[in-house]
Amino acid sequence: MQVVSNIEQLRATISEWRRAGLRIGFVPTMGNLHNGHLELVRRAREQADRVVVSIFVNPLQFDRAADLDAYPRTLEQDCERLGELAELVFTPTPELMYPHGQQQQTKVVVPGVSEVLEGALRPGHFDGVSTVVCKLFNLVQPDVACFGEKDYQQLALIRKMTADLNLPVDIIGVPTVRADDGLALSSRNGYLTEAERALAPMLAATMNWLAERLTAGERNLEQLAADGSARLNDAGFRTDGIDMVDADTLLPLNEHSRAVVILMAAFLGKARLIDNRVVTLG
Ligand code: PAJ
Repeated sequence: MQVVSNIEQLRATISEWRRAGLRIGFVPTMGNLHNGHLELVRRAREQADRVVVSIFVNPLQFDRAADLDAYPRTLEQDCERLGELAELVFTPTPELMYPHGQQQQTKVVVPGVSEVLEGALRPGHFDGVSTVVCKLFNLVQPDVACFGEKDYQQLALIRKMTADLNLPVDIIGVPTVRADDGLALSSRNGYLTEAERALAPMLAATMNWLAERLTAGERNLEQLAADGSARLNDAGFRTDGIDMVDADTLLPLNEHSRAVVILMAAFLGKARLIDNRVVTLG
């Protein structure tokens, strides 16, 4: 596995692979890799001859400098975990990605999907994500790229950007990888104390409880969200949004809606945990 931190070397390797007619798979990450990330890499492997993983804590998508500084950076351990799963790890610096500073950066903005839900809570966050992923696509020129369903709105954003800009990349969504007790794997789980970690699976359990009620035909979404919040807050979480919206458009449900996505966000101590689940409407 090659670890590459400059653009010339990245382009040289990519050109060589493309000339040889090899199919390139890509997994963008911010590092601190866990089994969820590795599952994306395995999926990319199945689809491609060569796999590139990027590790870049993207300042453009952080709304608070403290979060950016606190984000775990564990490059050595990440490379060990990747082992032979990837041929190339791209680890650019912020200066390499944004040589003129973030304010001078041309941005890719995906209207609609970037503005609702999580986007409304964190203005600019999704512009930072679409911009960096578009840049990384141009650098790596992948045939296929894998993203986790864990970040449901992010996946919808990338799909829309790719379609709108006719980017020649197949986007694959990979189901959320969970711990045995149901907690979705996340770099942020590392912020949990032992007691919080024991409580954390309740987020997924509450989501599943809401899913069952939706499946049973309940449609009072406000009531469902209020009940979910009450359960979590009583147990010691601080709910930061329970939304149930059309799974395709992320807009409010209407009579044509085929499926609903339950989007959960809650603080537990210092960690902001998210999860989601799609429920098909009968
Ligand atoms: P990061 O949080 O490192 O996640 C990288 C990829 O791993 C994302 O596609 C995310 O959805 C996926 N992922 C995380 N946890 C997962 C889990 N438990 N199961 C399945 N997939 C999981 O998301 C980002 O980085 C950044 O926004 C990025 C796309 C790299 C742009 O900077």
